[in-house]
Amino acid sequence: MLLLVLLALGGVEALSLEHYRQSCPKAEAAVTAAVKQAMSSDHTVPAALLRLHFHDCFVRSCDASVLLDSTSKSKASEKDGAPNASLHALYVIDNAKRAVESLCPAVVSCADIIALAARDAVSLSGGPSWALPLGRKDGRVSLASDAAASLPAPTARFEQLKQAFNARGLSVKDLVALSGAHTLGSAHCSSFQDRIASPALRPSFAKALRRACPANNTDAAAGWAFDSSTPKAKASFDNGYFRMLQSGRGLLTSDEALLTHPKTRAFVALYAASQDEFFRDFVASMLRMSALNDPAGEVRAHCRRRNSS
Ligand code: HEM
Repeated sequence: MLLLVLLALGGVEALSLEHYRQSCPKAEAAVTAAVKQAMSSDHTVPAALLRLHFHDCFVRSCDASVLLDSTSKSKASEKDGAPNASLHALYVIDNAKRAVESLCPAVVSCADIIALAARDAVSLSGGPSWALPLGRKDGRVSLASDAAASLPAPTARFEQLKQAFNARGLSVKDLVALSGAHTLGSAHCSSFQDRIASPALRPSFAKALRRACPANNTDAAAGWAFDSSTPKAKASFDNGYFRMLQSGRGLLTSDEALLTHPKTRAFVALYAASQDEFFRDFVASMLRMSALNDPAGEVRAHCRRRNSS
């Protein structure tokens, strides 16, 4: 009923594969080109773009609220929230938006650009690709406090993770499949400090982490790759993360937590054994996560600013 009312008001537009077919047919290709260009000189880009999409979708919805800069009027935007401190490569979204605006001004939302860039980051790293329904709107609200409240912490245990995903209509299967994104990228020492001292950690793994993150560590950039089975510069999107988990080398408490419940442990085993199953379920879960959107937003002209303040 509510949906019908909103439709009557012209407020709801479903996401669609045809959304920009008439209005901006080259939008997808322009985003792909921007991602490719950035990846050619910076191997950390795919991980950053994939994480950006997750952090966008889990706070309010996939509405690019994560991109808004703080202003004198609205201080402390999402980007300034602690969980977003290590987001990076936002320049790739700026570049893509610039390219798309030159093709068709004020048509393509920043939220769609993030979703497309995340999809491309996966496929250009050797992972699966998928047709992505488009037509997301950009939000106008962006609060640092929302980021801290909505994004699960690296110290989260199974019940907290389950609850965070359920709150967005996502299942424990989605939790495991999407955590497979940790096949790319790395975490700073501060994100897994709690793990280093854990007696549950494999001694050789604990030793390696202690070497990377000594107690007197002053290097803020120090960290460890989630899937250290592939060299950092050649990181590929595969099911290596699940094999790492099974061999006792899960980096974060939240990674390890996937082994603590029989249901999630079974999905970890399934994905560790079959990359095809992982890819299939990852795509389905990404589509579910990236469909979260509030259609009452706008299409921003500049991704870092609301159209009017
Ligand atoms: C299940 C709950 C999750 C938690 C608690 C979590 C937490 C984290 C943390 C703490 C980091 C490292 C931050 C740093 O130290 O710089 C990280 C990195 C990352 N996360 Fe997650 N994450 C979760 C789920 C996801 C999901 C669903 C995705 C994407 C679909 C994702 C994608 C990534 C990627 C790609 C990186 C590496 C980023 C880079 O190297 O720049 N994560 N995550």
